[in-house]
Order: sequence, then structure tokens, then C-alpha cells
Amino acid sequence: MKPDLFIYPYKWDERRPYQDGMLLFVPEYYQEHVAFGRLRLEQVFENQNPVYVEFCSGNGEWIIERALENPDVNWIAVEKQFRRAKQIFSKAKRAGLKNLFIVTGEALTFTRYYLNDSAITKTFVNFPDPWPKDRHAKHRLIQAPFAKELSRILIPNEKSLFVTDHPTYAQQMIAVMQEDEAFTASHPKPYFITDRENYGSSYFKNLWNRLGRTIHYIEYVNGS
Ligand SMILES: C[S@@+](CC[C@H](N)C(=O)[O-])C[C@H]1O[C@@H](n2cnc3c(N)ncnc32)[C@H](O)[C@@H]1O
Repeated sequence: MKPDLFIYPYKWDERRPYQDGMLLFVPEYYQEHVAFGRLRLEQVFENQNPVYVEFCSGNGEWIIERALENPDVNWIAVEKQFRRAKQIFSKAKRAGLKNLFIVTGEALTFTRYYLNDSAITKTFVNFPDPWPKDRHAKHRLIQAPFAKELSRILIPNEKSLFVTDHPTYAQQMIAVMQEDEAFTASHPKPYFITDRENYGSSYFKNLWNRLGRTIHYIEYVNGS
């Protein structure tokens, strides 16, 4: 499919999950996700390579670089804003990537209904929206239900990484993951590090680096 043809595949009142090759549309305000069935990732990628997922991919800078550098890994980008998913799609096309599957949809919904148990080798959440006001904190992605889904989809002893510049959200991520009995912190208290060699760049990582913000890398192993 050419990037120009990457348009919403249905009208709002006809919304449904829709897959076109390496693209999946996961509709919002929709109750029938179960009927679509969970993805058979060996069929999607046509190989049995490990699958790494990045949630909240934004314009895709980080995951496109990773997919190019690691052709023996299958990558899934999950981004709820259609406009940004389209940017990822255009970049993937230009780069000729065959190992990137792009999901236009909400992270918890996609994880819960479209990924099988123990199907994923690593997950990454890079700079998720911090929802800094207290009254908006309920919208943050990293909460107990999402942690539960991460432990279900991750292969035992594999890892989940969260990256944020936002100190309050970092503390929430740590509290959520400490509370989930399936996970163990990779780093000793305070359970984060502030540098990770060769991590790669993203729009927001570059922005917060320029502004001198501390980056928190919070990693948990799926196994206690
Ligand atoms: C602050 S941006 C970070 C983008 C990118 N990771 C980066 O580092 O440049 C957060 C992105 O997450 C997306 N997002 C927020 N909540 C989401 C959710 N629940 N599911 C999927 N994407 C989400 C937003 O649309 C936005 O593109």
C-alpha cells in the first residue's frame, strides 16, 4: 500500500478491526474486539523471530531505527493517533522495512485483545503522555491493568522497559510495577537508571535531552 492510500478504512459507524498486511486498525469505543481473534504473529511476519513491541510510538523515529538495526527481530509499533501512525508507515515504506507491524490503536486495548499469552520477547514504552495534572492522571497508560497484560503477553523472564522524563509518572510506573507480583525490578532501589548506552533517539528523548531533563529508564523482568 502506498502511504497516500493509508486512510481510515471505514466510516465511524462502520468501525471494526481491520488488517491490511502489516497494518492493523483497532477501533475505539468498540465492544467486539474478541471476534477478530488474537494475532498469529508467525503468520503476520512469516517467520518465528522474536517480537518486540513499542507502545506510544509517536512519529516512529525510535522504532524505525531499531527495526533497521535489528532485522532479525520483528517489531510492533502501537500508536493511537492515526496521523502519527501514518508518519510511521511512510518512514517504514521509505526504509523498505519488512519487520515492522504498525497498529493504529490504543495500547491497553490492543494488548488485551490482539496479543496472545507469552507471544512477546520485549516491550518498550518511550515517553508516554504524562498527563501532568492530578485530575488527568487517570488517563496514564501505566496502571495495574496494563501491567497485568504485559505479564501475560511477555515470555517468562523477559523484560519490559518504561522511559520517561516525568518524575511523578516515573514514581507511578515504579509503584505499579512493584505492586505487580509477576515482575521484579532490574535495577536496585530507586529502581531506575538515568542513562542507557546506545538506547536510540526519539523526538521526545531529543527534546528532553536538549532541555536538560533527567530521563528515567525503568526496567522490570517478567518473573519473580
Ligand atoms: C509524548 S509522545 C512520545 C512519542 C515517542 N515515543 C517519542 O518518544 O517521541 C506520546 C505518544 O503516545 C501516544 N499515546 C498516548 N496514549 C496512548 C495509548 N494509550 N495507546 C497508544 N498510544 C498512545 C500519543 O498519541 C503520542 O504519540
